[in-house]
Amino acid sequence: MRVLVTGAHGMLGHRVVDALRSRGHEVRGTDLPELDLTDADAVSRFVSDVEPDAVVNCAAYTAVDKAEEDEELAFRINADAAGNVARAAPYVVHLSTDYVFDGSASEAYTESSAPAPTGAYGRTKLAGEEQVLGASSSHAVVRTAWLYGEGGPNFVDTMLRLGRERAEVRVVFDQVGSPTWTGHLSTALVDVVQRKGAGIFHAANSGRCSWFELAVEAMRVADLDCRVVAIPSSEYPTPTKRPAFSVLETERDDGVHLPPWQDGVKGHLTP
Ligand SMILES: NC(=O)c1ccc[n+]([C@@H]2O[C@H](COP(=O)([O-])OP(=O)(O)OC[C@H]3O[C@@H](n4cnc5c(N)ncnc54)[C@H](OP(=O)(O)O)[C@@H]3O)[C@@H](O)[C@H]2O)c1
Repeated sequence: MRVLVTGAHGMLGHRVVDALRSRGHEVRGTDLPELDLTDADAVSRFVSDVEPDAVVNCAAYTAVDKAEEDEELAFRINADAAGNVARAAPYVVHLSTDYVFDGSASEAYTESSAPAPTGAYGRTKLAGEEQVLGASSSHAVVRTAWLYGEGGPNFVDTMLRLGRERAEVRVVFDQVGSPTWTGHLSTALVDVVQRKGAGIFHAANSGRCSWFELAVEAMRVADLDCRVVAIPSSEYPTPTKRPAFSVLETERDDGVHLPPWQDGVKGHLTP
């Protein structure tokens, strides 16, 4: 297949490019400044030129806290630009997030759970999902969570840096989710593209943990001698209120299943 990957320089996007190529697909990656997805005419021209069988849209405004101050720009990228891609391409796999949920559940969120974002980033991502699925019932929205991997700022790498610099780090224990490694997710995205999966998919490493437990595991696998201290979110205030619980699972017969989250940490830290 010929596949166009947007956001191809991003943490997930560059990994998706590699995963598609290693499965024999012809890949065209693009990102800013070559193509600004908020420009509908430019997107339409670019897609007509490339003539892809599928587009994997990894482009996004991902600065969760900054989005509170500039929701308009976040909306243009996460919602309107996603719509531009979805209207221009025959088949799109669009990435979304656990932050579309409010975090008040105690059971894992599945594809049919009702979204109710509490912050600007989540609102703009939910609007993007609606634009993509509204453009064609054959498009796919893949929600993932707590992403980390090479080539982008992420929690696991931040913990490892701090673990080398400090004797102690303080990490919140009262937010629980599904940490997901880009190495596992990118392979699963290739599968979705190949079978032209449609509708909403949840795709996260299996199991669940808190940020505290993720930090402990990262230190253990990297063999770093740094004490991880569990603190409540009230001691680490952020502009955006994060969901307290945002574990993602699939309820689809044809759903995406990824390995346990501990395997993701190992995969990321093992050369
Ligand atoms: N990171 C997470 O924890 C997480 C969790 C759940 C879901 N997701 C979702 O997963 C997807 C990939 O995330 P990621 O962490 O890989 O993101 P990322 O590293 O921030 O990459 C996003 C890419 O999109 C590009 N981009 C931004 N605005 C654009 C525009 N107007 N036109 C074209 N490209 C544009 C960015 O370029 P610049 O860098 O130049 O702005 C960047 O290269 C996103 O949909 C995100 O919402 C991420």
